[in-house]
Amino acid sequence: MKNSKKVVVFDTTLRDGEQTPSISITPSNKLEIAMELDKLGVNIIEAGSPITSKGEREAIKQIINQKLNAEICSFVRALPLDIDKALECNVDSVHIVIPTSEIHMKYKMKKSKEEIVESALNSIEYAKEHGLIVELSAEDATRSESDFLIELFKTAEEYKIDRACICDTVGILTPDKSSLLVKKIVENIKTPLSIHCHNDFGMATANTVAGINAGAKECHVTVNGLGERAGNAPIDEVVMTLDKLYGIKSDINHSQLSKTSRLISKLVKVPIPANKSIVGENAFSHEAGIHVDGLIKNTSTYEPILPEEVGNNRKIILGKHSGKSALKYKLSLMNIGLNNKEFNQVYDKVKAYGDLGKYISDIDLKTIISEIKGVNIA
Ligand code: KIV
Ligand code: ZN
Repeated sequence: MKNSKKVVVFDTTLRDGEQTPSISITPSNKLEIAMELDKLGVNIIEAGSPITSKGEREAIKQIINQKLNAEICSFVRALPLDIDKALECNVDSVHIVIPTSEIHMKYKMKKSKEEIVESALNSIEYAKEHGLIVELSAEDATRSESDFLIELFKTAEEYKIDRACICDTVGILTPDKSSLLVKKIVENIKTPLSIHCHNDFGMATANTVAGINAGAKECHVTVNGLGERAGNAPIDEVVMTLDKLYGIKSDINHSQLSKTSRLISKLVKVPIPANKSIVGENAFSHEAGIHVDGLIKNTSTYEPILPEEVGNNRKIILGKHSGKSALKYKLSLMNIGLNNKEFNQVYDKVKAYGDLGKYISDIDLKTIISEIKGVNIA
């Protein structure tokens, strides 16, 4: 699968991710996360919204002082005050966001289309005069008129925006709609397009991937899919799907994905679901006899990628569904030798525990073997 395209990764863990209900990231944790994201290889870090608080500005300034490889961006509304606060932090770029749907313009902003566009253009002009890179986002773009989005981005191009972005703010895209919308916009503008998807219907990754395949150049993602409500597109899913299923590369260091995911989960105190793809505890865990048997012969039978590629681990779980090969394999990993009779006794015990709704940890297995052998092997 050859594809010369490379996707730009814009990580918004420190802005949209921090909008996850009930989390707030301290300035020192923000700094640690930014450094981790930089090591991971993200191209743009949205470090926060400088107008929010003094602590937020302090955190952004500290991140800037690290002189990371990534571009450090700050979220701003189309207001000079917000841009001034971003300038005070010395950021590389601003992410100017304006709502473009009828619902948002009328009910949230209580402003006309013309007023909103004017505020966007004035802000772009102001930011560019101060040497900032500008990404212009259309909030609720997927419930906006596509002709209006094109007109907006074309006008903004005259004011020299560097990137344009469509936000699926309430996650109502589907992959086919994402593809159609992106195609229509990229055919009509010259500026690179980004896509920002939310997960309200569990489609954020699929919609982001479809948008990139249709011609968007940049994806907005967060670690562990943190974000408002059901969250944003998770970085691991987007980059691994693009790479493995479409051959579209990024600068992300895949083998660091699990470590970054765990660090951020610990810092923001939001657990990673066990069955989370790529970085979850169960993403490479196997129990069923047929699966483990196949896996021992060749891992590609039941794993689409190797766990070490994403810094995760393979686990063989013993329980009700385990077969004899799984037990044999597990014993060989643990360096435990059993004769036939002992092996069958241990196997029967594993099944009996499984029927009680339990799974057998390594410690449980050693206890069972100790009882059967009559010696403590722990
Ligand atoms: O989801 C969204 O629309 C956003 C914008 C405010 C950028 O996060
Ligand atoms: Zn968002």
